[in-house]
Amino acid sequence: MSRGVEAVRPGIRAMAGYVPGKQPAPGTRVIKLNTNESPLPPSPRVAEAIGERLADPDALRRYPVPDSSGLRRAAAEIFGCRPENVIAGNGSDELLRIILDTFVDDGEEIAYFHPSYSLYPVLAEIRGAKSRALPLFDGQGGLYLPDLAGVKLFFLTSPNAPLGFSFDNGYIRKLAAACGGVVVVDEAYADFALGNALELVGELDNLIVLRTLSKSYGLDGLRVGLGAAPAEIIAELDKVRDSYNLDHLAQVGAVAALEDRDYLRKTVALVRTEREFLTAGLEGLGFKVEPSQTNFVFATPPAPARAQELYEKLAARGILVRWFADPILEQGLRITIGNRPEMEAVLAAVKEIMDQ
Ligand SMILES: Cc1ncc(COP(=O)(O)O)c(C=O)c1O
Repeated sequence: MSRGVEAVRPGIRAMAGYVPGKQPAPGTRVIKLNTNESPLPPSPRVAEAIGERLADPDALRRYPVPDSSGLRRAAAEIFGCRPENVIAGNGSDELLRIILDTFVDDGEEIAYFHPSYSLYPVLAEIRGAKSRALPLFDGQGGLYLPDLAGVKLFFLTSPNAPLGFSFDNGYIRKLAAACGGVVVVDEAYADFALGNALELVGELDNLIVLRTLSKSYGLDGLRVGLGAAPAEIIAELDKVRDSYNLDHLAQVGAVAALEDRDYLRKTVALVRTEREFLTAGLEGLGFKVEPSQTNFVFATPPAPARAQELYEKLAARGILVRWFADPILEQGLRITIGNRPEMEAVLAAVKEIMDQ
């Protein structure tokens, strides 16, 4: 082993690292339904705003606004809080990392439900924290309410990914009361859902709500996440954040996207319509489809079809969906909601494979 590699922290050397969904090279012709991107491009106002900004010769020569103040103001208006209650991040993934660095000391414990977003334990491992995966259900058809007295951070993905259902605010209140530390509600998909936890931010002193512009705003490539929390918590998170964590163009583009409320409504309406279409089509082919509040569905094919084989055969036809090698999830596929031609193509391909 080289001296360089030997110098790496043993915990990092031992870990596998996070594996993101497949991202084919730009220009590759595939139907991409594997990483929950939007079926629509972002609002045209985003490119306009970025273009106008780039026309200023100083735009890229100067450092960006360090605290993303304009973006935080725009977000606060939508969230119904003050800019002091908002932090902006380079994607919500960066906010998750900032939260871990702010709250968790070496060897302390974080927890989350399994299945949910598989990045939480990876970030915990990088931080040197212990992590505890808890079951989602209590074994009697209800949601599990864990004892979180010794837990520093609890990550709740709501709506859940990859199953698609939302936790109601009564449940989140109970979870926050049971938690010795802070509950982070990761609402990456909340714009597609019927409810959300933003109203709890003014009520609970140990809650952080995370949002992203990657899903409902179609801005995965710009990397913008937002967090809402009591102002005292935001002030602590702010100390841990890189001074210039959001570049100039991301800030300008994100404000333009947030301000185009009609465009968001149009995207959400399209996703809901296509979600119903795909669900009905898959059910017609005998699948069990979990009711979804998101821009994806988790669907289990009827026996003897096997999810992994379907996933591979769809990929061979240029249709990318997600299959998880996990005992709880391996029986199903997570399929992102696309536009009508994409939904028709996936249904036709699934039917053809199952008829073989
Ligand atoms: C539950 C959840 N949280 C966070 C993210 C990451 O979002 P961002 O693109 O803002 O980093 C994802 C992305 O797939 C997600 O599924």
